[in-house]
Formats: sequence, structure tokens, C-alpha cells
Amino acid sequence: MGIPHPRIHLKVFIFSVAFTLLTIGIVRFSKDPKNASRWRNEKIFPNGTHNVTISRIPSKDELRRIWIQKKIERLSSKFAEGAGKTNSSFEKPKYKPMKEANSRAHIFYYAWYRNVELDQVSRHWNDDDPGMQKDAFGLYKTDSLSGIRLSFYPKEGFYSSRNETVVAKHMGQLKKAGIGVIVVYWKPPGFEDSPEEVLEMLLSAALENGIKVALHVSPYYNWTLEHLLEQLKIFLKKYGSHKGIYRLRRRNRDLPVFYVYDPFDLGSSAWASVLSPTGSSSIRNTELDGVFIGLLADQAHRMEIKKSQFDVLFQHFKSHCRAFLISEAQNCITTNGSEQTYVRDD
Ligand SMILES: *[C@@H]1O[C@H](CO)[C@@H](O)[C@H](O)[C@H]1NC(C)=O
Ligand SMILES: *[C@@H]1O[C@H](CO)[C@@H](O)[C@H](O)[C@H]1NC(C)=O
Ligand SMILES: *[C@@H]1O[C@H](CO)[C@@H](O)[C@H](O)[C@H]1NC(C)=O
Ligand SMILES: *[C@@H]1O[C@H](CO)[C@@H](O)[C@H](O)[C@H]1NC(C)=O
Ligand SMILES: *[C@@H]1O[C@H](CO)[C@@H](O)[C@H](O)[C@H]1NC(C)=O
Ligand SMILES: *[C@@H]1O[C@H](CO)[C@@H](O)[C@H](O)[C@H]1NC(C)=O
Repeated sequence: MGIPHPRIHLKVFIFSVAFTLLTIGIVRFSKDPKNASRWRNEKIFPNGTHNVTISRIPSKDELRRIWIQKKIERLSSKFAEGAGKTNSSFEKPKYKPMKEANSRAHIFYYAWYRNVELDQVSRHWNDDDPGMQKDAFGLYKTDSLSGIRLSFYPKEGFYSSRNETVVAKHMGQLKKAGIGVIVVYWKPPGFEDSPEEVLEMLLSAALENGIKVALHVSPYYNWTLEHLLEQLKIFLKKYGSHKGIYRLRRRNRDLPVFYVYDPFDLGSSAWASVLSPTGSSSIRNTELDGVFIGLLADQAHRMEIKKSQFDVLFQHFKSHCRAFLISEAQNCITTNGSEQTYVRDD
């Protein structure tokens, strides 16, 4: 093979330019009078000259919002058409549902969605919209669809994670997909987006489908390792005996599993002091012992994760985990499902 001939590059370039110009042309000179009048004012004076001013070019955000709104309207009407008929306009999936959940397959699960019907406010359906009003926690308050920030329309609509019917459906879907562990975004009670109020319900719904729950510990306001460990102790006291908690057999005990997001905010030596068996405040072989899985977000953290004595590392983003590996002692889980889940055996 080798480097393609420069003419091919030229052809591709000319084609791209032509395509771009065509696209711009279609948008700019759209015959749709609504679109034209929306973004463009044109006036012809008696002397024949045109006074053309572009009154307002919509921002990328606005275009995206319009596009999503249209998509939602279109999909909503399709769902409405499909409802009640045995032959919906959506094709049935072709895969065979799994008979049971497999605890080797983990998925990240967020129980932080809220909607106006159940919660009076909508949450997390419209993150990052600069035009949206925020509440005291800095969360977006709107209940309007205009701020929706999604690429896909949720099958259960803009649901509330507190809605038991919806959660039960999710767990049924996960079981059918063969997923055995949900890694639930977690902050201690009292911190924004803490799943505390739904945990009991989530644990039961999961367990009913043979699915286990692990915490995805997330950095919270003013967090320290001492505070976090205190909170995990409280968590284990309250939920530790629940059969829905995911545990792995280590050192002859079934230890709860904790994923930790951005652990190095707290320093790798601080982690080492609790995760190393010989650390000054080691939790190993205490009631707080667990399988701790640290996020590797950045190549620069390769050494940190080793120093900090995490049991396993994981990645939350699409990237090649293996490239980061520095020794066979380092293990790796990717979340896109292509890699095996490795857990250190000691
Ligand atoms: C045509 O008319 C407009 C509005 O009266 C004026 O601003 C413009 O200068 C005129 N153009 C020419 C070429 O006379
Ligand atoms: C041309 O249009 C702009 C915007 O509509 C307006 O502000 C301006 O006065 C117009 N110019 C003339 C000469 O009419
Ligand atoms: C149901 O869907 C199938 C496959 O798309 C189609 O061939 C059939 O005509 C549909 N039946 C009705 C009653 O719409
Ligand atoms: C819970 O979700 C179900 C299914 O989407 C819906 O029919 C029901 O109205 C919801 N309940 C509340 C209280 O919002
Ligand atoms: C956050 O932590 C700092 C330093 O430990 C402390 O001074 C401050 O009072 C804490 N803020 C709150 C709201 O707890
Ligand atoms: C998952 O990630 C690996 C490594 O980046 C990549 O080769 C593979 O195509 C990805 N699989 C999917 C399903 O995205």
C-alpha cells in the first residue's frame, strides 16, 4: 500500500469543498420561507439595490436545540402511533435476550434523573445549557424540553429515577442484556445527586433480576479521604448486609466493590496509607476492607494508581486501556465491553 497518490488527496479535497459549499448553499438559500425570514432580512429598494442583512445567526447550541426538539417531536409521535398497536413502527431487536445476568458484565448507572411529574423539577435531562436557570446546588431547574441535551430519546421518556416502575423496567432490560452489576453514581447522603433516597428501592429492583450493585464513588464538595471512609462505613452499616451489594471473594472474605472516580484529587500517598496492608491507617482486613477500583483518566496517573495501591483500575472513556499498562500487576477494565475484566489475584 504506502502513501496514497497526491491526486487522490486533491480529489478528496475538491469533493469536500464542493460538498461543504453545497451544504452551505442549501442552508443559506433554503426555499423554506420560515427559515429564510428567521435568519435573513432582504429588502429591494426602488433603485434596484438590495439591503441584505443577516439579522441573527443562530448559535451552534440553538441549532442543536432546534434539531433535538424536532427529533423529540418526531419520535414522540412515532411512539404515540406505535402505542396500543401490536405492530409498532419500530423493529423488534434481533438479539436473543439472555436468561440471566452475568456479574462479569458491569454497567454505569445514574439514578440522578428527576422529572416534573414526580419531583416538581427536571434534573439532568438538560445539563450544560447556558440559558437555563440553576438552583441553589447549581443544577438546572427547567421543565421545558427546549434544553434537553441528549442524542437519544429515552424509551421511558424523561423519567424520574425515583419512579419504581421505570427502575424495574431498567433492571429487566439489563438482565435481558446479560449485565450483572450496576455501578451506581454515588455521593454521601446530603450531597448533590446522592442516590441515598433511591438506594433501597434500586437494590431490591436489581436483586429481583439477579443484578448486584456497586458504588461509583464520585468526588464531592470538600471531600477528604477521612470523610469518605467515614461515609463508606455508614453506607456499609446500613446496606452492607443487603444481598444486592456486589462482592468479590478476596482474602477469604466477600468484599464489597467500590469504583472511585478521580481518586488522585486526594493524593496517591493518602490512598496508599489506607489501601496498603502496611499503611498507617490501613483498612485491609478491617470491616471497611473492599475491592477498590480507581479511575485511570490520564496516562500521567499510571504511576499514581500503582503507588496508591488500588486493587484494580478502570477507564470511563473510550480509549485503549492496554496501552497504559505498565506491569502485569496493573489490571484493567474498559467500559466499552471489548476488553476482558481483569482483577488482581493475590
Ligand atoms: C439605493 O437606495 C438606497 C436607499 O435609499 C440607498 O441607501 C443606496 O445608496 C442606493 N444605491 C444606489 C446605487 O443609488
Ligand atoms: C437595511 O436593513 C437594516 C436592518 O433591517 C436597517 O437597520 C437599515 O436601516 C437598512 N438600510 C436602509 C438604507 O434602509
Ligand atoms: C407489520 O410489520 C410488518 C413488517 O414490517 C409488515 O410487513 C406488515 O405489513 C405490518 N402489519 C401491519 C398490520 O401493519
Ligand atoms: C412512572 O413511570 C410510569 C412508566 O413510564 C408512568 O406511567 C407513571 O406515570 C410514572 N409515575 C409517576 C408517579 O410519575
Ligand atoms: C471546606 O473545607 C475547608 C478546609 O477543610 C473548610 O475550611 C471549610 O469550612 C469547608 N467548607 C464547608 C462548607 O464545609
Ligand atoms: C473498544 O475499544 C477498543 C480499544 O480502543 C477498540 O478497539 C474497540 O473497537 C472498541 N469496541 C467498541 C465496541 O467500541
